[in-house]
Amino acid sequence: SPRVFSGIQPSGDLHLGNYLGAIRRFVPLQDTHETIYCVVDMHAITVWQEPNDLRRATREVAAAFIAAGVDPKRSIVFNQSQVMQHAELAWVFNCIARIGWMNRMTQFKDKAGKNSENVSLGLLAYPSLMAADILLYKATAVPVGDDQKQHLELTRDIAAKFNNDYAASIVEQGLDPDFFPITEPLIAGPATRIMSLRDGTKKMSKSDPSDQSRISLLDDADAISKKIKKATTDPAELPLDVEGLKGRPEADNLVGIYAALSDKTKAEVLTEFGGQGWGKFKPALADLAVAQLAPMSGEMRRLIEDTTTIDGILRDGGERAAAIAEKTMHDVRRIVGFIR
Ligand code: TYM
Repeated sequence: SPRVFSGIQPSGDLHLGNYLGAIRRFVPLQDTHETIYCVVDMHAITVWQEPNDLRRATREVAAAFIAAGVDPKRSIVFNQSQVMQHAELAWVFNCIARIGWMNRMTQFKDKAGKNSENVSLGLLAYPSLMAADILLYKATAVPVGDDQKQHLELTRDIAAKFNNDYAASIVEQGLDPDFFPITEPLIAGPATRIMSLRDGTKKMSKSDPSDQSRISLLDDADAISKKIKKATTDPAELPLDVEGLKGRPEADNLVGIYAALSDKTKAEVLTEFGGQGWGKFKPALADLAVAQLAPMSGEMRRLIEDTTTIDGILRDGGERAAAIAEKTMHDVRRIVGFIR
């Protein structure tokens, strides 16, 4: 069956955007695909991480996967650094990809800001490691939020250039000329880009200084409810149809969150709430969010403390991942001309 791969960085508080844009969508894919979900700790250290914080955040992401319904028996759940082939393939890709491709990445430009001479070399090469994550498993479907689209296009460019540069060698080794597959991003549904609760034009993000801007997956019922009720909105009532959300980023965002949490479309949500005021909608959204998220945050808290269980899941997943990754790397070494 087709293979799914996705990764989440352990670099601070997981939030509702990570959940609705990615983690929640990991769960149903288990029924139809072979699924591999990775805590990308090697990506996290492209910016400085305190080692103890990194360990805790790694367990937090793994706990979120499991609390959300990812089954570590059906899916492979592991942290990236346990499978050394990620670093190994990333190096080969560093030699395939062009510096110009990396410099064009908007996420790099945002993170580097005006200081691009003084960020880590790893931050520039970040997308090359991401391509290695996906292509080691020859995954063809990658569920992510909208902000990862450009990185996935680059993954396709790297796969195509590798297949092309090494075309003769791939044939000589008796391998499929389309050695690395072309990956499809799975970016769909009402929550591909969840916005800040304070400013509907800014993405909800781990790095926003305001804690009120995001719902953390570790927030308790009270915090979730308060943040939703205080969310910035315009004064108009909810529109009757999706067209009416145009130019109203805050309304669009809250309706999108309601839709994602209730597995409905925005249109269906507006059929129910169109024409009503925020005084009706916000409490309904708060109740829905608390019902869905509070049990998960409780389960996450419990799991994070149970480090023996979590670390065991990651180790087991790492072994299963390595078995697949090594097959690909074995071929890549032959293709490139490395003697073993
Ligand atoms: P990361 O850790 O920043 O985010 C994890 C996932 O959450 C999604 N996301 C959002 N979705 C909707 N609204 C938001 N406001 C929001 N913020 C974040 C992201 O799109 C992502 O799906 N480079 C990746 C990690 C990665 C990866 C991979 C992903 C490494 N290797 C291989 C897929 C495949 C990242 O930084 O995600």
